[in-house]
This record gives sequence, C-alpha cells and structure tokens, in this order.
Amino acid sequence: MCVFFLNKKNIATFAHINNFNPTNHFSEHLNRIMDKEIVLSGIRSTGNLHLGNYYGALRNFVRLQDIYDCNFFIADLHALTTNPDPQQLHASVKQILAEYLAAGIDPEKATIFIQSDVPEVAEMYLLLNMHVGIGELMRTTSFKDKARKCLGIGPAKDDDDEAFEKQIIGAETNKRVNAGLLTYPTLMAVDILIQKATKVPVGKDQEQHLELTRRFARRFNSFYGVDFFPEPQNFNFGAAAVKVPGLDGSGKMGKSEGNCIYLVDNPKTLKKKVMRAVTDEGPKEPNSPVSEPIANLFSLLELTSTPEIVKQYKDAYADCSIRYGDLKKQLAEDILKVTTPIRERVNDILADEDYLRKVVNRGAEKARERASKTLAEMRQIMGIRRF
Ligand code: TYM
Repeated sequence: MCVFFLNKKNIATFAHINNFNPTNHFSEHLNRIMDKEIVLSGIRSTGNLHLGNYYGALRNFVRLQDIYDCNFFIADLHALTTNPDPQQLHASVKQILAEYLAAGIDPEKATIFIQSDVPEVAEMYLLLNMHVGIGELMRTTSFKDKARKCLGIGPAKDDDDEAFEKQIIGAETNKRVNAGLLTYPTLMAVDILIQKATKVPVGKDQEQHLELTRRFARRFNSFYGVDFFPEPQNFNFGAAAVKVPGLDGSGKMGKSEGNCIYLVDNPKTLKKKVMRAVTDEGPKEPNSPVSEPIANLFSLLELTSTPEIVKQYKDAYADCSIRYGDLKKQLAEDILKVTTPIRERVNDILADEDYLRKVVNRGAEKARERASKTLAEMRQIMGIRRF
C-alpha cells in the first residue's frame, strides 16, 4: 500500500478511514512513524497483584495501550532488593505476566518484557549512579521505610535522620541494608530514561521516585551540555495520582502491610477480607466528620462503584442511617465485578508456557532495540568510546 508515502497526519487519517486494525505487526511500524509518545511502567515481581497495583497502575496500562507507544515490564531486578527466594521470584514473574495479560494488556499493542531480559539496563544503572548522590538516595522516603523494616526499627519520627543514619552505618546490628535498596531510585530512573519515556503511569507512592528521575535527567543533560533525556511525568488521564488505602484503617494497600485484596482472591476470601475491614462506631449526629477507616472504605467505593451508589452511602452516613455491613457487602460485590474476569482468565494463561515465552521474548527484543541505542549514545556522551 502507498501508506509509507503519506505524512504523519495522513497516516492517522488513513488508519481511521480504513478502520485500521491496530492489532497487527504493521501497526508497530506505524506507531514509530507517527512518533507516538512513549509510555513506560513496571511492577515488581513480589507476589500477586492487588487493588493498589490495579488502580494505581494496571488499569491505566490497559487504557493507554490504544493511544501511545506503550512498554510495560516486570521489575524483577527491583524485586531482588528484598532478597527473595529464587524459586518464588521466578514464579512471581510468571504470575505477574499472566495477570498483566488477564487484565487486558495486549502484546500486539504494547511491548511486554521482563526487566532482567534487557541487560543494557544494568550497564546504564552503573553509568547513571556516577551522577547520583548517596545523600539524596538516603533521604528518599521509600528507602527510609524499607531500611527501617530491614533493621527492625519502628516507623520514622520527625527529625531523627541523624540517629537513623547512625543505625544504618553502625556495626551494632548483624542486619544490613543492602546497597541495591539505596540505589533503587537509580534503577527505576534507568528503566524510564533508557526507553526515553515521557509518560509513566504510577500510583502516588512512586511520585518521589519520578521526581528523582527528572532530577537525574536534568543533571545529566546539564553536566554534559546535551538535550538527551526527556523529563517524564506521571500520567493518570488528567486526574491526581491514586493512593488505594488498605482495609486495616490507615495507610495504603501494600503487600508488606498485609492489608491487600488480590486480583486473584476467590469470592469467599475477598468477601471475608472486606467484611473484616476496620470501621468505627458509626456517626452519632448528622453530618459528623468521617474517620480515617470510613474515609478509606468510601475511597475504595469511589474506585469500584458508580457515583450513584457512592452518593447513596455518603448520604446515609450524613443522616446517620448508614449500616457498615451493607456498605461492605456492596463494596465486596463491586470489587468482584472488577476482579472476577481477571481471576477467571489467569490460570489458562499461566498454563500456556509457550505463549508466555513468546510474549516476553518478543517484548525483550523490542525493548532492547531502544535501550541499546540509548546506552550506546550515553556511553559516547560520557566518553566511554571504542578505539
Ligand atoms: P510496585 O511494585 O511497588 O508497585 C507497582 C505499581 O502499583 C502502584 N501501587 C499503588 N497505587 C496506588 N495505591 C496503592 N496502594 C499502591 N500500591 C502500589 C505503584 O504506585 C506502582 O505504580 N518502583 C516501582 C516499579 C518500577 C517502575 C519502574 C515503575 C520499577 N521501575 C519504572 C515505573 C517506571 C514499584 O515499586 O512498583
């Protein structure tokens, strides 16, 4: 067809008029010709995906794949920072891959790959670390939280940075905080910058890492006097970044918090978890302020239910007629509407090893194409040159 002689605008029109099917290989070329913006995001392989992963990230992955040049990966190198059991790590990678596919990421539209299948990432991680300060890494909230967990010390108090640093450096403990945990943000920045991604759909908890990525990109560009790395932004279709709360009354939903609803939870388990969610004694007077555990249930309801249902329960709270049991039943039903189709597909996908292998091999090939180009140029810029 004559499509290659058309300009970008005409290609888009051609695709539209001819009801162009984006699910073929030709559309990949079209993506690149049309210079679609590059989207990239990943999830660590640390177990099953939960509602936080879904609403913070995965749901957007599926929506974005029809619009942009999308690249979604499984962050197995990041998972290594917590020294997982090797068998479990591998099983986890496979499980997340199957959950990506079951949730609707289409390998004909998006590039799906495993982080460790792109060795260029490891080399660029070394190079970029030369422009990253230990101090800025130590001040990262996620590092402080994870290091505290490693050392078995309680949650952070205000202004105790000095004591914390002493504990990390000090020899009084036989526990150690590994250097991979400290340089976690460098590795994440590399994932993004090596693909020159400009849009990174992530939940609220990852915004500090994105801010660091932008800072590293700016620093590199200005140090070498180049306009090489773009500055990536979080992307949630114009809405604020999402923080999905846990069911235990405070904080966010997270695997290490043990407060998760997993996409693959069966209906009985899921209902039990929701029915056990922390609540309070209920409003005593009309229009009472809403406590954190109840606000969290409303947040979950807002994510999973219709605006009419949310209004119904908020009104019932305001006039003191609310029954938390009913609210939880409604919530469990609405969550199941989202998770059931995913849960029902996962096992079939998991059983098809050949298919999974094909998806990630092809994904790795595509991800390496851009990664090797970026790395070669970066080496050149930094003065690592061949004779
Ligand atoms: P991870 O595995 O902790 O989380 C994966 C995604 O799920 C989102 N998320 C949440 N969103 C809202 N509410 C929650 N309770 C919640 N819990 C998790 C996270 O924000 C994230 O989007 N460092 C990343 C993985 C990563 C990455 C990257 C992401 C590595 N390299 C490059 C983007 C680009 C992480 O820890 O994800």
